[in-house]
Amino acid sequence: SLTFGYNIGVINAPQKADYNETWVHRYGEPIPSGTLTSLWSLSVAIFSIGGMVSSFCVGFISEWLGRRKAMLANNLFAFIGGSLMGMSKLCMSFEMMILGRFIIGAYCGLASGLTPMYVGEIAPTSLRGALGTLHQLAIVTGILIAQVLGLESLLGSEHLWPVLLGLTVVPTVLQMGLLPFCPESPRFLYIIRSQEHLAKRLRRLTGRQEVGDMLAEMKEEKRRMEMERKVSIPELFRSSLYRQPIIISILLQLSQQLSGVNAIFYYSTSIFMKAGVQSPVYATIGAGVVNCAFTVVSLFLVERMGRRTLHMLGLGGMCICAIVMTIALALLDSIPWMSYISMLAIFGFVAFFEVGPGPIPWFFVAELFSQGPRPAAMAVAGFSNWTANFIIGMGFQYVADLCGPYVFLIFAGLLLFFLIFTFFRVPETRGKTFDQIAANFNQAFFFFFISTLFPSVQTKTLQYGICKHDLL
Ligand code: GLC
Repeated sequence: SLTFGYNIGVINAPQKADYNETWVHRYGEPIPSGTLTSLWSLSVAIFSIGGMVSSFCVGFISEWLGRRKAMLANNLFAFIGGSLMGMSKLCMSFEMMILGRFIIGAYCGLASGLTPMYVGEIAPTSLRGALGTLHQLAIVTGILIAQVLGLESLLGSEHLWPVLLGLTVVPTVLQMGLLPFCPESPRFLYIIRSQEHLAKRLRRLTGRQEVGDMLAEMKEEKRRMEMERKVSIPELFRSSLYRQPIIISILLQLSQQLSGVNAIFYYSTSIFMKAGVQSPVYATIGAGVVNCAFTVVSLFLVERMGRRTLHMLGLGGMCICAIVMTIALALLDSIPWMSYISMLAIFGFVAFFEVGPGPIPWFFVAELFSQGPRPAAMAVAGFSNWTANFIIGMGFQYVADLCGPYVFLIFAGLLLFFLIFTFFRVPETRGKTFDQIAANFNQAFFFFFISTLFPSVQTKTLQYGICKHDLL
């Protein structure tokens, strides 16, 4: 996850000028400015294309190799991608840089599915949200490290930026050394691979002697799964059992990306400049620090306040900040101190993002599905996330040029929509086992069916005080 964040943050630094140098070396004339812009946009955006392609394969790879081996094998992509990018200046080849960005994107796409799935499966129910949030904490730490190292006075200079890009292999080496000490997911081994005798493994994982309850829960899940057919991606949409949770998963991923957070992270320096901030580079690092700090806040709140509440709080707060930011940007010419307001609004926007929409969608998908459909669901959710990421990365600049200071109103509208959706459709999963969560959805279908035939049943269930989200 750290490598994933590092590669989001690092691309601000590399110098376009090198592409020109290569062009002059090859063709004896300066690069046309249109070609330079296209090559550079491609280098930035191809990262998300790599993520889109590979995230779609998460289901298949995690079932084939197992969670842990799949994560280990994925490091190969980071090595190849990091080396290609790190050597591209030396070899005077922008093709190597573009290919490297694609391959490192592929690494990140797999990591964004495999890590939350593995963590969700090994975490005890009461800590699943907090441990799931660590994935996002590592991402934001990676972004911040890259922002700081990318300063021109450190590694962001003309000569040192290949080192900056190549450094992405460091966490990979660390993971290659440490991951073999981590156990494979017992849920995967028992429910999918039918391996018995897991008590010892579970004791090691949990540090508890008594693991009978965990074994019993996994047994129950396995029993249910054996009654279902294997779940493919089309099946997720066809089956009435999975349709609701897969739609929720996709919309949560879209709420993360279409909130507009990456408009800030990809284009922060120019946004801060337009907002009249004096040192935009340091303001960008400030946003990175706020980003990390509030992920830690979420880590401590998620098991107390629940996923639904935090997600809604985050979306609502972001929506208000987006409106404040628009007003401040629109008034900037007439009221100079509005630049401070817009900077505060941007920090607030990022802070609210990390309270809910940043960390929650990543681990929520793993929570909504039981062992059988989980890998396919992670693939669909990851693909939706990366596609939306790509659209924002490519489209924001054009829309911003068209709408001027009002561009963030589009995000405010989207945020409001996602807030309403979460209120009416997203259930709370805190403290529930995978089986209980899945059973809630099955029940929902049952209730929906019965209450359509006999409307009085719905009235009765409400009279008995069953909460709406249990019914959903
Ligand atoms: C989430 C998003 C990622 C974004 C980051 C910002 O991890 O998936 O696209 O850049 O948060 O903190």
